[in-house]
Order: sequence, then C-alpha cells, then structure tokens
Amino acid sequence: MTKTSHVNLEKWQQVSKNHFSKITPYYDQGRDFERREIWMEEISRHTPIEKDDWVLDSGSGTGLLAVHFAEQITGRVLGLEPSWSMLQQALQKKQPANLGWLQGISETLPIANNTLRAVFLSQVWHHLEDQDQAGREFFRCLKSGGGLFIKTYSHAQIKARWDLQFIFPELMPLMLHIYPDVPGYESLLKNIGFTSVEFQSTVRENFLLPSQLLTILRKKAWSMFSYLTPEGTAEGEARLETLVASGDEPVPHSEVHLLVIALK
Ligand SMILES: C[S@@+](CC[C@H](N)C(=O)[O-])C[C@H]1O[C@@H](n2cnc3c(N)ncnc32)[C@H](O)[C@@H]1O
Repeated sequence: MTKTSHVNLEKWQQVSKNHFSKITPYYDQGRDFERREIWMEEISRHTPIEKDDWVLDSGSGTGLLAVHFAEQITGRVLGLEPSWSMLQQALQKKQPANLGWLQGISETLPIANNTLRAVFLSQVWHHLEDQDQAGREFFRCLKSGGGLFIKTYSHAQIKARWDLQFIFPELMPLMLHIYPDVPGYESLLKNIGFTSVEFQSTVRENFLLPSQLLTILRKKAWSMFSYLTPEGTAEGEARLETLVASGDEPVPHSEVHLLVIALK
C-alpha cells in the first residue's frame, strides 16, 4: 500500500477495521442531526421498489437507515454489516417484518446473481478494502435495471468543510486521499459494466454547537477522529474549548452529500 508524507493509509485501514466495534454505543449520537427520509425517496425515483424486491444496505452499521428504509417501502430490506457489535445495536431498534440482517462484507456477498433491485451504501465506500471487487459483487447481485446508490462526499464538499478547515486541518489530506472523487467513481463503475453513472449533490444548511463537536470528538463517534495524532487531537480540543468558553455559538456543519447513482 502506498504511503505519502501526509497520509498513512495502513493506519486508516486499521482504524477503519477496529473503530466501529469500539464506538458502537456512541455511533448514533454522531449521526443524530442527519435526515434519513430522503435516501429511499431518491432510490425509488430511479429504481421503483415493488413488494417482492430486495434492497441491500451494505455496511448498515447500527441500522439507522436500514430500519427507516423498511418502514418506507413494502419491498424487503437486508442490512449487511461486518461488525458484530454494530449489528447488535441494530437489533435493539424496531424490527419491521420486511427487514433482515446479515454479517458479512461487501467484497464477498452471500447473495445469488441478479436478485437485488437496489444496493445502497452510506459512508461506507471509503472503508472498503477492495472497492473494485465490491463494485463487481454489487453488479453481479443486482437485477438488470437495478441501481447502486453510494452516499459519500465529493472532494469539493470535503474542502468546504468548516471543521476540517479550522479545527482539524490535519485530517484534510487524509479525507481527500481516502474518498474517491467524481471521475474515480465514473471510471471504476463504467469499467465494471454499469450502463449509466450519475451524480447528485445534496446540501442542507446545518449548524452544531462547539460543545456537541467536542463530545463527538471525545467519544470518537466519527471514524476520522480515530486517525488524529495526539497533537492533532489536543489542538482540535483546545480550539473547540475556546469556542465553548466564548459562548458556544453554533458553527457551520452543513449536511452535504454526493449521491452516486449507477444503473445496471
Ligand atoms: C461510517 S459507518 C456507516 C454505517 C451506516 N451505513 C450509516 O450510514 O449509519 C461505516 C460502516 O461500514 C462498515 N464496513 C466497513 N468495511 C466494510 C465492508 N468491507 N463491507 C461492508 N461494510 C463495511 C463498518 O463496519 C461500519 O459499520
């Protein structure tokens, strides 16, 4: 694996693998402010989901979105997740009858060819060990006309993040390294055989209190915080503490996403 002066990818992979089992109890807290209802609406707009259709939420984590999807559609939803503790957390949530769970990874799906109507990934793609292999597995399991939906960040969206610019600048090169940008998705997915690849950006203005960010940092509820060096953590913490002490005024944390839509 390549290593540059700015980015230690081996460490990211380690962090990514071990992180979620450790932070499971705090995970939902770090995602509280995000909207959940818009993603199934987007999926259904591109690939209408009928009663007997299957939708896979790959890397379903604590089930925040999979549970919501199952409530929104009459089709069936499957959450696939490698971390046992994240799956356990998902099982604590309401369990609609059309929802099921699998422990596994995206790179080797225990699913027959041409069975899924849609595959959705939310903030998972940059954690995959082998993105090309996972893309091929999704393609194999999707029905013709079915869609792969990847919720992620574009490089422009990462560069515009207030927290990365002003509180955790150390993380900016890592984020730009581990998240593919638009052309990377386009060539990888077209190469695999997807017939069309489209991109949609969503933006909703949002704010967090510095004290909320401080809690998220201390609990390491976002995986990127596990990558901070002790110095980067101390600096970020000190900057946030200063903001808390001077009134804890809200700081920008817009809810921005890139949705990659690839149809088979
Ligand atoms: C940032 S969390 C996102 C969880 C959930 N999708 C959400 O939006 O709340 C990333 C998840 O991807 C899972 N993950 C990591 N590697 C994976 C892989 N190869 N295949 C499937 N999921 C993976 C992690 O265990 C973790 O639960």
